[in-house]
Amino acid sequence: MTPLHPFRAGIIGTGFIAPVHVEALRRLGVQVTAICGSTASAGAMAESLGIPEVYGDYDYAALCRSPRVDVVHITSPNKVHVEQALVALAAGKHVVCEKPLGMNSRETARLVRAVRRAGPSGPLLAVNYMCRFFPAVLQMRAMVQRGDLGRIIHVQGHFFQDWLLHDTDFNWRIQADEGGKLRAVGDIGTHWLDTVSFVLGSPVSSVFAALETFHQTRLRPTGPVKTFAAVDRSTLVPYAVDTEDFASLLLKFGKSEHGFSDGVHANVAVSQVAAGWKCSLAVGIYGTKASVRWDLQQPNEIHVGHRDQPNQLLQRGTAGFDTDVSGFTDYPGGHPEGFPDSHKMHYRAIYQYLAGQRPAPVPFATVEDGHDEVRLCEAILRSARSHRWVSIRGPRG
Ligand SMILES: NC(=O)c1ccc[n+]([C@@H]2O[C@H](COP(=O)([O-])OP(=O)(O)OC[C@H]3O[C@@H](n4cnc5c(N)ncnc54)[C@H](O)[C@@H]3O)[C@@H](O)[C@H]2O)c1
Repeated sequence: MTPLHPFRAGIIGTGFIAPVHVEALRRLGVQVTAICGSTASAGAMAESLGIPEVYGDYDYAALCRSPRVDVVHITSPNKVHVEQALVALAAGKHVVCEKPLGMNSRETARLVRAVRRAGPSGPLLAVNYMCRFFPAVLQMRAMVQRGDLGRIIHVQGHFFQDWLLHDTDFNWRIQADEGGKLRAVGDIGTHWLDTVSFVLGSPVSSVFAALETFHQTRLRPTGPVKTFAAVDRSTLVPYAVDTEDFASLLLKFGKSEHGFSDGVHANVAVSQVAAGWKCSLAVGIYGTKASVRWDLQQPNEIHVGHRDQPNQLLQRGTAGFDTDVSGFTDYPGGHPEGFPDSHKMHYRAIYQYLAGQRPAPVPFATVEDGHDEVRLCEAILRSARSHRWVSIRGPRG
């Protein structure tokens, strides 16, 4: 494997997910040379994590200009992803952008055009749909795409969290003008949709959606709040909620190259108010020969279901997993890997690509994939408002 220590990364954003990027990059040997955020938070993070260049006052353009940054990781809130990515690309920097890629498909199309204009020798933009890089997901993909499960009949699952259950739980994601018009779907549902499309090898072709907002009014603090941080009740004020807490989606998937999952029907529930569930991305894929089931909360195991023989429990790092999947895992069986490792494996695939190792198709989510997820969110919103099936058509970009 090509060493990755010549690459230098700059991080925009200093909240919940920023240190996850820093830790994963450092485990790969990539240098983290710069950080950008508010003057206080960027300074504090630089100090605690030992990052040499600090760009306060949200001066991301200065970070993008730094000659000591090759790749810009955007971990800021959704509404600034596109403007920050455009500046980074214009400065000739590769970009790893958090999901969702942007607030609407009009603005994400600008990124598709910018990457295409720069051409194959220009900068890369990858979107952080890192759930693709759990070895269990790669294993399910291999099983589906070589026909181990037979023809896929249906797919079922959920993405459940409970961190917004109380009306006092506040985050910028709750406001449509900060996070986007779809919240539960845009924030976590797109992880499920990207993962299942990746496993099946086919895009969503149509959707029927129902959205629910249980807390029409919530209480919020007057100052900024970090994701998952506790709030001070004495400072709360009421506000109207314009994003959904829960979504129920019926989906049809399109054609696949391998032919095992053409036109598959799926149903998924997405909730950020499901008491007891912390971060459960669960998927079951049911074929004519067998089924597979996986949950992010038990990331090292896949259940394989059979009709005429005993069911199986496959465990990462043991004989049940394919050897090519083992390229995306570093520890032996019995030594659990999870959320931080999926980031590490994702960034390894991206940086190895930058170092010249170029599998086709690329395993990570491209700018087109990020744009398509935003288009899909818009179709979901149209369906929920019109109470109709909505087709996802048209060229990318
Ligand atoms: N891939 C994943 O699993 C995953 C998980 C969590 C969050 N995310 C994504 O990461 C992004 C950040 O989420 P978070 O949970 O870390 O949020 P957060 O609220 O904890 O942190 C956001 C950070 O961005 C900073 N910020 C605000 N405006 C900025 C600007 N204009 N320029 C630079 N920095 C700015 C804030 O000061 C804060 O430090 C979101 O897009 C979210 O969807 C992805």
